[in-house]
Amino acid sequence: MDLPSNVTLVDHPLVQHKVTILRDVKTGAKEFRELVSELAMLMAYEATRGFQLAETTVQTPITETQSKVLAGKKVAVVPILRAGLGMVDGILALLPAAKVGHIGLYRDPETLAPVEYYCKLPEDIGERDVMIVDPMLATGGSASAAIEFLRQRGARTVRLLSIIAAPEGIAAVNERCDDVLIYVCALDSHLNDHGYIVPGLGDAGDRLFGTK
Ligand code: PRP
Ligand code: URA
Repeated sequence: MDLPSNVTLVDHPLVQHKVTILRDVKTGAKEFRELVSELAMLMAYEATRGFQLAETTVQTPITETQSKVLAGKKVAVVPILRAGLGMVDGILALLPAAKVGHIGLYRDPETLAPVEYYCKLPEDIGERDVMIVDPMLATGGSASAAIEFLRQRGARTVRLLSIIAAPEGIAAVNERCDDVLIYVCALDSHLNDHGYIVPGLGDAGDRLFGTK
C-alpha cells in the first residue's frame, strides 16, 4: 500500500527495534507496557514536529538572547479504552501540561463494530490539538467512531497515533473522517477473519493488562 499523504510512518531504527520486541509472543506484560509507553513518547516527538513556536528573550548565565518557546494551541491526549491507556504516560512525559480525555469503546466480537461505553473530555476540547491514542488500528471502526465523537464535541485538529495499523484501518479512517493526521510505527499486511492485524501483536489490551 502506498501511504496516503496524511499518514506518517515513524520508522526510526529505535522504533522498529522496539516494535519487534512488542510483537514477540514471549514478551511479558511488564516489558510490553514499558515498550508501548516508550513508543508513544517517540511517536509524540514526531507528531509534534509541526507545532508552532514564538520568539522569546532568555537570560543565559552569559548573555541575553532570543530563543523559541511553544506557542500553539494546548494539547488533549485522548486514549481509546482500554489499550490506549498504555500510551498516555509516554506522551505526558513530553507534554506534561496536556489534558487527558477518555473514550471507552470495545469491538463487538461478532460484528467488530465499536460500542461506546464511556466518554469524558476536557471542557475546552475545541481549543486544543487532540491526539487520539490507541496501539492498534485494525478495521478502523474504533478510531473512526472516536474521531466522530470528538468532532461532534468541537474538536478540530485531530491526530491519531497507532503503533500498528492495517491498510484496511487507514482506508476506513480516511473514508469516514476528513483532515486527520495519522502516525503509525508499522503498516502491516492485512486483517484475519477475526479482525486481528496480521502479523500484528495479538490483543493489545490483553497483553497490556494481562487479562488472557
Ligand atoms: C482494540 C484496540 C482498538 C480496537 C482496534 O480494542 O485497542 O481499540 O481493538 O480495532 P478496530 O480498528 O477494528 O476498531 P478492543 O476492542 O479489543 O478493546 P480493549 O482495548 O478493551 O481490549
Ligand atoms: N485489536 C487488537 O488488540 N489487536 C488487533 O490485532 C486488532 C484489534
